[in-house]
Amino acid sequence: MLTKQTEIELSNEQVEEIVSWRRYLHQHPELSFQEYKTSAFLYETLCTFPNLEVTRPTETSVLAVLKGAYSGKVIGFRADMDALPIQEETGLPFASENEGVMHACGHDGHTAILLGVAKALSAKQEKIHGEIRFFFQHAEEQLPGGAREMVAAGVTEGVDYVFGLHLSSLTPVGQLTITPGAATSNSDMFHVTIKGKGGHSSQPENTIDPVVTSAQIITSLQTVVSRITSPKDELVVSVTTLQAGDAVNVIPEQVKMGASVRSFSQDVRKRAVEAIEQIIKGVSEANGCQYELNYTYGYDSVMNDTKATAIAVEAIRRKLGEGAYVESEAIMGGEDFSAFSNVIPGCFVFVGACSLENQTPAPHHHPKFLIDEAALADGANMFLAIAEDMVLE
Ligand code: NI
Repeated sequence: MLTKQTEIELSNEQVEEIVSWRRYLHQHPELSFQEYKTSAFLYETLCTFPNLEVTRPTETSVLAVLKGAYSGKVIGFRADMDALPIQEETGLPFASENEGVMHACGHDGHTAILLGVAKALSAKQEKIHGEIRFFFQHAEEQLPGGAREMVAAGVTEGVDYVFGLHLSSLTPVGQLTITPGAATSNSDMFHVTIKGKGGHSSQPENTIDPVVTSAQIITSLQTVVSRITSPKDELVVSVTTLQAGDAVNVIPEQVKMGASVRSFSQDVRKRAVEAIEQIIKGVSEANGCQYELNYTYGYDSVMNDTKATAIAVEAIRRKLGEGAYVESEAIMGGEDFSAFSNVIPGCFVFVGACSLENQTPAPHHHPKFLIDEAALADGANMFLAIAEDMVLE
């Protein structure tokens, strides 16, 4: 900890600029791995700030490095920038201009916040002991995720701590929440095809019925949670898609199923995968069916590091008030910030963005998703406070 602290107060103009960036990004959303205009806008804007080395680690991501005047810790801040294939229905004056594409998860806000933080800190270069890296990440919404690609490009080498945030449309504005330890889930899925032998529905003895087999598999899969893992383990296995034949007098050749699998620990995840395959294999064989299983490992669970969490909690309380910090429970959602926090101690913070008057807020990924823009200053102030505590003189 440095002895003297420089407090950065965002001026009204700086907050307004963050809001205007967010609105511009909101109006011009781009899908995952296609953030060409967004990343060009970020690159050009960052190049107008002093003291930054701005590069493109991948086709649509941007890295800005701020090397301080003195040596010290290296910290990273990450924002994601992609939008979703959703037709916006908010009626906002700055609603999406791109048909069928919408910033319905708040990533426009994350990007605008980080841009504002980069601008404010780049002006303080002579007071910085260490280095700050700004990760403007593409493709959070689509596997395999942009975070993995940025990490593979080497952006995290030498970084001591990494911090990220997510606006939350369901949390009251003014509240910032962190889950110590596992904060988001391992978010996997699988697709399986059960292959039998089709035939006439009146002659089941001449067929191998994949429908009956699939029904047994779906029922047996319920035991992965209820009998194979402990009640203390957190796990969800949901079969969510099912496609069989299309004529009532025909036993089909095959059935296709899809399922979502969510867990927190890597051990429970591993046991779930083994049990799922064992059940599908065993039940298929018992019925004379063949099966083809494709298991997709999604994003790893975000594990908040104890030290990084303490740094973030302290920064929130100091800058935004004692009551601003609220400890929260883990969510069963996926987030590829884990690609960063798997390799560097990190902390991921949810920033309340539900307007206090809004009694029926829309969830994330909804065509009517809205944020209270007052949350943008909260997010920026949190990142600034972390920088003040860790690398500013
Ligand atoms: Ni998101």
